[in-house]
Amino acid sequence: MNKQIILLPGDGVGKEIMESAKLVLNVIASEYGHNFTFHQHAIGGDAIDHYGTPLPEDTINACQHADAVLLGAVGGGKWDSLPGHMRPEKGLLGIRKKLGLFANLRPVKGFAPLLHASPLKEEIVKNSDILIIRELTGGLYFGQPSERRENGNAVVDTLYYHRSEMERIIDKAFQSARLRNKQLTSVDKANVLESSRMWREIVNEKSKDYPDVTVEHLLVDAAAMKLITRPNHFDVIVTENLFGDILSDEASVLTGSLGMLPSASVRSDGVGLYEPVHGSAPDIAGKGIANPLGMILSAAMMLKYSFGMEEEAEEIEEAVQESLEQGYHTPDLQIKGGKQVGTKELTEIVVDNLTTKSVSNSICNM
Ligand code: NAD
Ligand code: IPM
Ligand code: MN
Repeated sequence: MNKQIILLPGDGVGKEIMESAKLVLNVIASEYGHNFTFHQHAIGGDAIDHYGTPLPEDTINACQHADAVLLGAVGGGKWDSLPGHMRPEKGLLGIRKKLGLFANLRPVKGFAPLLHASPLKEEIVKNSDILIIRELTGGLYFGQPSERRENGNAVVDTLYYHRSEMERIIDKAFQSARLRNKQLTSVDKANVLESSRMWREIVNEKSKDYPDVTVEHLLVDAAAMKLITRPNHFDVIVTENLFGDILSDEASVLTGSLGMLPSASVRSDGVGLYEPVHGSAPDIAGKGIANPLGMILSAAMMLKYSFGMEEEAEEIEEAVQESLEQGYHTPDLQIKGGKQVGTKELTEIVVDNLTTKSVSNSICNM
């Protein structure tokens, strides 16, 4: 298959881990006879520095005409004092909105060799396998007005959702639950927020269309607690934009590191942008020690969701698993023993595990 892939490395560790994704995808391409063409474009702080805007028109155009987009991360101290509309984060929010990527899928599944890497007890973390579905183009992130008033002494952020925006993400969540363990937890703050009460109403209405899916409602504060005390309780979690942002970073603790989590931001026709859940990690940027696995696993999600390449995606996941089983990990994973390596070394090990596999596959096929 021929695929045009846009790369948006962005800032900080985004640049470092994008190289890892590219290497892994090139190996997959040559193994399976695919032709992946990469086009790199600017976003975030990098785009501000070069083009004076966090989301250049050229980047938007390229993404609109691509088969899929891979994004590293945006942001960093250098741009923190810019006005809101000029910040690097505005570039990321802008591209999500421009492409209509309303569904953010954030799988949280621990790899067995990392069970003891979590600060949580092993028996709590064991067997947890959660898909967080976060609404991505609405809510507080996009509602207008959002501004300072009264000489800067009062502020407004607006939480706006249209019913249709809630319906499509809730439908997506029911459909995803159907493909998994058929347990859906809807997270809201319906005891306080009007938006959450509409959200809950829609979940209840929709549940009639999906009688095979068991639904429960949880308030977000209690959900935050349960996520790390009884993670096994959850299958699919669906929630609005800001709650989903916060809960997914929290859930990463189950896997041992925020650097492990991949994500897919998609719309109904399968077009997608794939990015790790973490940010530009300014505290470790440039040191060559960022965990590339969330990015590599995001590339695997791209193969699966945008290109239908299930086998290729699985091969990447297995190579990651194998590398961890061999004890290799970056320093963000608090593991006793094992072999601590940097971003490049870990990527090479994953690539080695891919190629060993492809050699043994071709021997089997002889
Ligand atoms: P962060 O996710 O960048 O970092 C939080 C902590 O996790 C840090 O200690 C960091 O070192 C660690 N970490 C994150 N990714 C890692 C990786 N791959 N390997 C090892 N350790 C990793 O969050 P932050 O520090 O709150 O934000 C920094 C900047 O990133 C901000 O400008 C923020 O807006 C931006 N941000 C961007 C995205 C994105 O582009 N998708 C997501 C979150 C934050
Ligand atoms: C994420 C990030 C972004 C978000 C920021 C950088 C705009 O935290 O992708 O989780 O809040 O959506
Ligand atoms: Mn976040």
